[in-house]
Amino acid sequence: MKFFIDTANLDQIKEAQDLGVLDGVTTNPSLMAKEGITGHDNILKHYIDICNIVDGDVSAEVISTDFEGMVREGEALAELHDQIVVKLPMIKDGVKACKYFSEKGIKTNVTLVFSVGQALLAAKAGATYVSPFIGRLDDISTDGLNLISEIRHVYDNYAFDTEILAASVRHTMHVIDCAKLGADVMTGPLSSIEGLLKHPLTDIGLAKFLADYKKGN
Ligand code: E4P
Repeated sequence: MKFFIDTANLDQIKEAQDLGVLDGVTTNPSLMAKEGITGHDNILKHYIDICNIVDGDVSAEVISTDFEGMVREGEALAELHDQIVVKLPMIKDGVKACKYFSEKGIKTNVTLVFSVGQALLAAKAGATYVSPFIGRLDDISTDGLNLISEIRHVYDNYAFDTEILAASVRHTMHVIDCAKLGADVMTGPLSSIEGLLKHPLTDIGLAKFLADYKKGN
């Protein structure tokens, strides 16, 4: 399972990279705005800064909602750095743009996916990644994890290459459950990754090992 961090915060990206388990980064316009990154040139520079920290894929989202605009924006984003993945919304022109980029060998991430039908369309259009938003489904009393399970089933039926990128991951149990269900990738906050470290018996056991060592020295 690949671990992506879902943030535009450079300090958190560095921290996750330093842990040695980071495979990539996802961003969206809201995450950019949260870091105060505004304006076309600043946003492009920020993508390059992120690429220079991590080794893996960095999703950069288009703002256009029409095919021509998405193609123009996506091509410019892809030229920024070879780690950039063009993030496209799950709308009609987004599907068309996904097909266009997949035929050109440019990686894509189809975002804002909330149903198995949408995930099927993304795979048919050759998406590199499909991003089902599990946390936002949970927010409206719908089982986000069930969507991961359904997409896994459908993709396996036809051996689609599209990777299931569990997005809108909110906490550590989401990460564990997505791993059990066979999601290829998860993207979440740093806390959802660091939470995997924690077990009270580890802390108790380490404290005892260190205390026993001191007794003998
Ligand atoms: C990732 O690609 C999405 O933009 C992100 O996971 C959305 O998460 P949120 O629902 O916590 O905003």
